[in-house]
Amino acid sequence: MTDPTPRPERVDPDDLLAYACAVARHFHEDDREEEAEPWVRAFATGYRAWAVRDAGRIVGNLGVIETDLSLPGGSRLPVAAVTAVGVEQTWRRRGLLRAMMAVALDEAVAHGEPVAALFASESVIYGRYGFGAAAPTMAYDIQPVHTGFRDPVDLRLVRTVEPEQALADWPALHAAMAQQRGGSVGIVPGLWRIGLVEDRPAWQGGATARRLVEVPGRGYARYRVKGGDEDPLPGGRVELIDLLALDAEAECALWQHVCGVDLTTTVRASLRPPDDALPALVTEPMALGERRGPPLYTRLLDLPRALGARHYASSGRLVLSVHDPDGYADGRFALQVGPAAASCERTDAGADLELGIEELSSVWLGGTRVVQLAAAGRITELRAGAVVALDRLLGVDRAPWTTTVF
Ligand SMILES: CC(C)(COP(=O)(O)OP(=O)(O)OC[C@H]1O[C@@H](n2cnc3c(N)ncnc32)[C@H](O)[C@@H]1OP(=O)(O)O)[C@@H](O)C(=O)NCCC(=O)NCCS
Repeated sequence: MTDPTPRPERVDPDDLLAYACAVARHFHEDDREEEAEPWVRAFATGYRAWAVRDAGRIVGNLGVIETDLSLPGGSRLPVAAVTAVGVEQTWRRRGLLRAMMAVALDEAVAHGEPVAALFASESVIYGRYGFGAAAPTMAYDIQPVHTGFRDPVDLRLVRTVEPEQALADWPALHAAMAQQRGGSVGIVPGLWRIGLVEDRPAWQGGATARRLVEVPGRGYARYRVKGGDEDPLPGGRVELIDLLALDAEAECALWQHVCGVDLTTTVRASLRPPDDALPALVTEPMALGERRGPPLYTRLLDLPRALGARHYASSGRLVLSVHDPDGYADGRFALQVGPAAASCERTDAGADLELGIEELSSVWLGGTRVVQLAAAGRITELRAGAVVALDRLLGVDRAPWTTTVF
């Protein structure tokens, strides 16, 4: 006999501590209340929390951060940023995630959020809910001893910053980067405070407290330094949290800085954009130990709003036949792009292309290529030339990228 699966319920604000402890427990982290408190403060506003309870105990949790997402061309749309997904080990595979995702996506629609986004622990989980890899990333294990910089810049540009100063100054740099790229998840003040000011030993994974450096007004980097596993320092590693620069000199200075930290031999960086400047800055790109990292996934919920709001590289009209088993964006849509504006509307016209919502959610920001998914048989061309036409339409100058991790 199987128990009926309990339903997800919204978590009251005064129950967020129990929720935050459950999130930590399901991520195998320290779940004591004192460790969860910063998260409760961070998510007191602009956060929707769901829990599934068994006799009062939280056995499933999911959260949505209310923020926004940059689009190619610089406009922004509200986004439901899905986070803190966890299910107790003894409750796995009983439909808890499916039930929580269904209420979270329904509520995103009710809140007027035309798109949802998340980072996933495993690629295989979220495609079934319509999430596609919209902003692929790269990761590096850099061995600075094996490469130099083609045109080194003056390292005196880089300065140490106090956390409160970074909290005041860095959001403007983040916003300027988001003007250049789609896929940038907006600033969440509570998360920024946690990422810059709060720094618990439990979050450090045996590494140092965060080091914050900047080229004032032009770029910043955050990192920790960790002793080597067998060999302590000087065989240490720089663990880069993020690095963002608005011009080439600042970019080079910050990378030179992190690659030159004393007593370290490697730099580990992840969530870098595929068009990162780094490989073009160094003399030996093969020393970067480059590999794929986890993408930002998006899930389109309102196609007319989402596709109508971005900027396009060229003009054209295409009719897309979209399969969305959950119904949010199922049907045929005409995407009409003119020199000044774009629109996307439901239509009865014959389709040029047929694709699933996971595939459309992968390609709409230009980070995943239409031609690549078509080559894999995941997009079907119904009119000759339509695959290349959509690929060109969605192409972007800069790859979508977010430095906000949630
Ligand atoms: C995913 C997770 C929450 C389990 O949830 P669950 O309640 O067991 O999932 P459900 O029972 O609702 O399963 C839903 C579907 O996903 C599938 N699924 C769930 N977890 C899966 C996994 N790890 N690998 C493959 N398939 C998985 C199930 O088979 C099921 O498929 P179906 O719809 O075809 O029947 C759990 O594995 C987990 O904690 N994952 C990490 C969460 C994560 O990615 N966090 C980062 C984002 S915040």
